[in-house]
Amino acid sequence: MDALTRYLDENRDRFLDDLKAALRIPSVSAQPEHREDMQRCARHLADELKRIGMTRSEVRPTDGHPLVYAEWLGAPGRPTALIYGHYDVQPPEPLELWTTPPFEPTLRDGKLYARGAVDDKGQVYMHVKALEAHLKVSGRLPINVKIVFEGEEEVGSENLAKFLRAHRAELDADVIVVSDTAMPGPDQPALCYALRGILYTQIEVVGPAHDLHSGHFGGAVQNPANALAAILTALKDGDGRITVPGFYDRVQGVSAEERAMINRTLDEKPYLAEAGAPAPWGEKGYSTAERITIRPTLDVNGMWSGYIGEGSKTVLPSFAAAKVSMRLVPDQDPVELFPRFEAYVRKLAPPGVTVKVRDLHGGRPYLSDPKHPMLQAAVRALGRAWTKPPVMAREGGSIPVMETFEQTHGLPCILMGFGLDDDQVHAPNEKFSLSSYFGGMRSVAYLYEELAKSS
Ligand code: BES
Ligand code: ZN
Repeated sequence: MDALTRYLDENRDRFLDDLKAALRIPSVSAQPEHREDMQRCARHLADELKRIGMTRSEVRPTDGHPLVYAEWLGAPGRPTALIYGHYDVQPPEPLELWTTPPFEPTLRDGKLYARGAVDDKGQVYMHVKALEAHLKVSGRLPINVKIVFEGEEEVGSENLAKFLRAHRAELDADVIVVSDTAMPGPDQPALCYALRGILYTQIEVVGPAHDLHSGHFGGAVQNPANALAAILTALKDGDGRITVPGFYDRVQGVSAEERAMINRTLDEKPYLAEAGAPAPWGEKGYSTAERITIRPTLDVNGMWSGYIGEGSKTVLPSFAAAKVSMRLVPDQDPVELFPRFEAYVRKLAPPGVTVKVRDLHGGRPYLSDPKHPMLQAAVRALGRAWTKPPVMAREGGSIPVMETFEQTHGLPCILMGFGLDDDQVHAPNEKFSLSSYFGGMRSVAYLYEELAKSS
């Protein structure tokens, strides 16, 4: 065993403790009451990067939550990797469904439970600790490294896009490395080459000036909750196709060869079992694997109106609202689709209510060349760290900044992530398996070495 691998093995307990310390900070980017915690988390990471020996490490303010920038540039002539990750997490609610509290990281059965365990603090720490291992064992890194850890990934990365454009020269690199995706199984590593985009909206339906007695007024005026239900129902047809006019205009076809690869990559049975739904359902004419990668979708993320307390209350609500997101595939564009969506929702609204549609955020889909030569370094690194060679995978989630990187940097990107289908991402009881944490840490430690060889 080489000294690097030995260091990674011998320090596992401490690497776990250090990750736990970061997970204890409730860095929820969406909730204003956590603004201070966001600052604290950024500071914590910047201090940690300084401690492991990065030559520069600082908290950089933005118009929103700060980001962490660090660098080590002591390998002239060698390639430079820009490592991106995010320290913000999704809201932990509903709290009562957590077995142990979301910000009290707890180890059970070889899995670390906490909000952000896999998405993305655990995967950020794989890099931090792999860098530490190189710096402690050899006093140097095999390549030059620049780090950007942002605090707004879970809310659309708007300020990061501005930062990347403003600091393009400072952030110059040869390759971008991101660990914020998943692998198909606990012993099957993957490299991700495509992500879906997103258009996130809110529909608000307003009826009477205030809530009404549903007997005294029921039947005389339109009910916003009923109206919203009618709108939402009409957004998809019985075959699971989205009915917004022009929605599919830019959806790219996919070759038979790629479709076959996509279908081979997903182990459908355990994937569906994990969902725990009574039956699979989706767009007619496509397999489950295709529905979650190469096809767009539309989903209600939440809706509210009227009385939802215990028992009954006879009320005709004055207001109803829903959060509706669409996952987009190449070459769909959220900026182009929002006005079409808005116009269509207005058209679907029955008379007697007014409807407002808000554009909460958008991100373009991402697609790269799975055969890019730079990916070979990642294939070799994963081959060294795992027993099986990696598969090339499309993912259904979104990392909007990937498309921004494409515009600002135009560089090859290595998306090397270690999440698992049962990680409960964005849900109660989020976890990161230790096999992923330590396997991922080895993988990225080897990746830096392999990138050095590819110069
Ligand atoms: N890590 C996820 C993205 C992801 C999830 C990739 C699953 C592959 C598989 C990321 O942090 C995330 O959740 N992004 C948001 C982006 C959105 C808020 C703009 C998402 O996909 O919902
Ligand atoms: Zn993430």
